[in-house]
Amino acid sequence: MATKLFLALDYADPELARKMVRLALPMNPHFKIGLELFTIAGPDFVREIIGEGGQVFLDLKFHDIPNTIAGAVSSAVGLGVGWLNVHCAGGTAMLEAAAKAKGETCAKLGSTCSLLGVTILTSLDDHATQEIGYSRKISEQVPHFAKMAQEAGLDGVVCSAQELSLVQAACGQSFQTMVPGIRLVGASTEDQKRVVTPEVAKNSGAHCIVMGRPITAAKDPAQVLREVLGVL
Ligand code: C5P
Repeated sequence: MATKLFLALDYADPELARKMVRLALPMNPHFKIGLELFTIAGPDFVREIIGEGGQVFLDLKFHDIPNTIAGAVSSAVGLGVGWLNVHCAGGTAMLEAAAKAKGETCAKLGSTCSLLGVTILTSLDDHATQEIGYSRKISEQVPHFAKMAQEAGLDGVVCSAQELSLVQAACGQSFQTMVPGIRLVGASTEDQKRVVTPEVAKNSGAHCIVMGRPITAAKDPAQVLREVLGVL
């Protein structure tokens, strides 16, 4: 199975994001637009990238009451994004509302979109999740969230590569996995805690990986992107 690479456009300046898209698009069509860029550049930027042939994972990690989530998911699907996410911690009723809204909007528009559940952020470790109040360890909480998401009708989850085998055991191989927290050998992990290399993520069966700073902050982003695509 080929692993897709989503390049995280974590920029506060849309012009810098555009530059990166121009550089990356001939090699790789998948981009991730998250809170930083979306808050400044909004839906028009998402439409622009899709208009240029890019495929967008809208990483806004929705977490709200079911009615609000249903509306937000419908709006996001309407933008034409191929992937979007909600926090599993929003609970089963919220996840079901998200899945229903996604299904209905896709059917109305004749489009497809993968709805993913965020399990536990890759910037958290067991100490941090215990402080939040989770009684399970991350290695138990992530497959628990994944099962909840699958039963609610979601298409997959966002998790670290360290939990991929646990998610696969709980939900099967076809349940999609989107894996951030990817670092090249010997690189700084920055704020990420549960990290692996692109190769390990691929060999562990990740459907998709997300990479930002290791590529966007590199001296030669095109070269690093080419190298990563070469191992996927
Ligand atoms: O720069 P870096 O490769 O760490 O970027 C990772 C990206 O993945 C960021 O845009 C971050 O918001 C996102 N992400 C994450 N952990 C999740 C979900 C998304 O780091 N659980």
